[in-house]
Amino acid sequence: MSDLVIKNSKLVLPEKIVDAGLVIEDGRIREITKDKNLPDAERVIDARGNYVLPGLIDAHVHFREPGASSKEDWFTGSSAAVAGGVTTILDMPNTQPPTTTIKHLNEKREIARSKAIVDYGFHFGATVDNSDELSRLGNDIASVKFYMSATTGSLKVDNDALIFEEFGILKDKKILATVHAENRDMVEYWFDRLKEKEGVDALDYANSRPNICAADALNRMVFLSKMIGNSVHFCHVSTREEIEILRNSRDNRVTAEATPHHLFLTKRDIKELGNYSKVNPPLRSRGDQLELWNAIHSGVIDIIATDHAPHLPGEKERDILIASAGMPGLETMLPLLLNEVNKGNLTLIELSRLTATNPARIFRIGNKGMIKEGYDADLVIIDLKKEDRVDNSRLFTKCGWSPFDGWKLKGWPIKTFVRGNLVFDEGSIERIRGKEITYSKNES
Ligand code: DOR
Ligand code: ZN
Ligand code: ZN
Repeated sequence: MSDLVIKNSKLVLPEKIVDAGLVIEDGRIREITKDKNLPDAERVIDARGNYVLPGLIDAHVHFREPGASSKEDWFTGSSAAVAGGVTTILDMPNTQPPTTTIKHLNEKREIARSKAIVDYGFHFGATVDNSDELSRLGNDIASVKFYMSATTGSLKVDNDALIFEEFGILKDKKILATVHAENRDMVEYWFDRLKEKEGVDALDYANSRPNICAADALNRMVFLSKMIGNSVHFCHVSTREEIEILRNSRDNRVTAEATPHHLFLTKRDIKELGNYSKVNPPLRSRGDQLELWNAIHSGVIDIIATDHAPHLPGEKERDILIASAGMPGLETMLPLLLNEVNKGNLTLIELSRLTATNPARIFRIGNKGMIKEGYDADLVIIDLKKEDRVDNSRLFTKCGWSPFDGWKLKGWPIKTFVRGNLVFDEGSIERIRGKEITYSKNES
């Protein structure tokens, strides 16, 4: 007998939406078939006519453990994930200690193994002196991350010659580079000017990292990676200038990501959010935001990822110069996007391409990212008609706040399955262990 059958659903497949059911065995989608052909199963779930999406793959989260588990740990972070319909996450290396040695990677693996309730993978961190470690990496990481300027933590590679050399290592090993592109000299210069001013506020902070910081850094890295021929993925693209550069240099070795906070917030929100708006790269203008949406629809932006960067209220409410940068996003990404689907600004097929199919392709995640026979049964049932408010008091993230608190949204996840296990069910979490993902071989 099958383990699980989901009936009465509308399945969001890569190219079309079909009225059909799912047969799940050993955590995989065994069959997609009309309801009348569904076999008996140990458990039958009636989707009540709702849509089923492939579980979201969030390629950019900061789970903070080891080192800062007061902000988030692998259980609270992964609970926030499944509450937001996210079934796989890729964790960033700026933990304490940073994930810049194979030893530290393996230590983080142990933590994730015992606490995660989503499936997960790891980004490794590049430093100014870990070329040896990079040379020893295998096919068991999502990417090597380059911070071109310092942000949370002290990870950075602020020397283009070193980036050039390290990109070369990654090219030979067919490992993807991910980049936080902000020009260090500019960011530091204008930050120093800010320190000389009186009464600096959150808008001054955002203005101290203008578009040129991101655009110049991205432009250089596109050029550099073209010279070398390695694959590079740009995190949190936020400006019209970056989009222009990406559009002109279109090359399948270059991919790009946008965050929900850049898609849904602008500088105009800084007044109300105060220090909670502080994030790197900063919130941008409405014009930039519109260009990001155009880039989403035209394919210049390949994926949406949260950059879930939890910090405690006390760390945000400090003087703006030393307040922590970053905001949580795991629980709100899907409802925000579904609300746009309801408004007619996005289709469910686009949504699943941006949040599941494309991340699986770019990060070479085997067997995930689509509702397809043989693929993992990572699924989220959504209720497109459900209306609710984002509410800080109901969040699972340990940081306990969201920049979207109070926003009324239509369209919410109601059930999330990781490899056929129901881990989130209308507000309650089931503690079933996640697994580390596997990667297919990179051809390019
Ligand atoms: O605002 C940010 N916060 N930007 C980053 O690049 C890092 C992140 C964090 O880890 O807090
Ligand atoms: Zn970043
Ligand atoms: Zn980040």
